[in-house]
Amino acid sequence: MQALRLHAIGGPEQLRIDTIDAPELGDADVLVRVRAAALNHRDVFITQGLYPKVALPVTLGSDGAGEVAVCGSTAARRWNPGDEVVIDPMLDWGPDPNVWDERRSSILGMPRDGTFAQYVAVPASNLYRKPAMLSWEEAAAIPLAGLTAFRALFTRGNLQHGETVLVPGVGGGVQTFVLLFAKAAGARTIVTSSTAEKLERARALGADLALNYRTEPDWHKALRSEKIDLVVDSSGGDTLRKALDAVRPGGRIVVYGGTVGDATLKLFPLFWKHVSILGTSMGSPDDFASVLRLFGGSLRPAIDRVFALHDGVAAFHRLDSAEQFGKVVLTLESVP
Ligand SMILES: NC(=O)c1ccc[n+]([C@@H]2O[C@H](COP(=O)([O-])OP(=O)(O)OC[C@H]3O[C@@H](n4cnc5c(N)ncnc54)[C@H](OP(=O)(O)O)[C@@H]3O)[C@@H](O)[C@H]2O)c1
Repeated sequence: MQALRLHAIGGPEQLRIDTIDAPELGDADVLVRVRAAALNHRDVFITQGLYPKVALPVTLGSDGAGEVAVCGSTAARRWNPGDEVVIDPMLDWGPDPNVWDERRSSILGMPRDGTFAQYVAVPASNLYRKPAMLSWEEAAAIPLAGLTAFRALFTRGNLQHGETVLVPGVGGGVQTFVLLFAKAAGARTIVTSSTAEKLERARALGADLALNYRTEPDWHKALRSEKIDLVVDSSGGDTLRKALDAVRPGGRIVVYGGTVGDATLKLFPLFWKHVSILGTSMGSPDDFASVLRLFGGSLRPAIDRVFALHDGVAAFHRLDSAEQFGKVVLTLESVP
């Protein structure tokens, strides 16, 4: 089979298409023929050596959707060849729904070979039926980002109908899901982004107020008259400090990343305003099942662009330069 593999640390240029054997199957595993996959910033960070314990060579890719090809002996009780599935990339979350078991859990696509390949082997318990209304590309766009967004907004953020949510850097893969899910839950949404074009796209997805964090670096001051109940952030750095300024007394801030870097926070507004800052990462199997239920109707993920697997390096560059709005997807359809 063909796979997009990372051979050395040094950025996306170190990726290349290899012809390798299909992965071996354990009894509880299923071999999935990947029809589409999608990128996350995690994949870019791994190529740059910005992720702990990178083991090489490796097939990257956490997101994927495809058809069941072969089942291990026990996996065959749950799945049949031809079943259309979406892959939950959170491997072995552990018994506590409140927090993953760090000692045993991992994410598909390093160290375990991932979805940027014609076939991927995953535990049968990580497969879910593909929502029938979605295309392969739409289904593949959901897993890691949709899961993270769902848990951040609902499981951790406890978003309620009618509340106001601030979504900084809305062009990111996870943040577009935060916007979509918040709107679907009946929330008012305020977003920031780096370009007028992305702000326009966010408005088209239902953003009620959209501010440019480049041309309006004091956006947080402009939001002081707003009643922001919840902030969901992955930028960190200065954005988190500004979000603390903007959130209402008694509000919540959920953090799942630090793209810009670590943050230094003023403590006075934190304790004086009784703000809760909550961390979150990925999501439990229950969270994943809940995400897919959201796609039973007209809701669709925001897809930025679809690249062929052979153009995977260009897809990585698009994410690395933050040109995207929503998910960057790889199609496997053109692979011979
Ligand atoms: N803990 C977890 O489980 C988990 C899960 C998923 C992701 N993450 C982390 O979350 C981050 C985002 O991941 P992703 O895959 O969604 O990445 P992505 O699609 O590459 O999005 C990154 C976005 O960051 C935004 N950004 C950059 N500088 C910013 C700034 N100064 N202020 C506000 N926004 C800024 C940009 O938004 P605009 O385009 O709107 O300007 C950009 O699109 C990464 O750090 C990733 O490692 C963590």
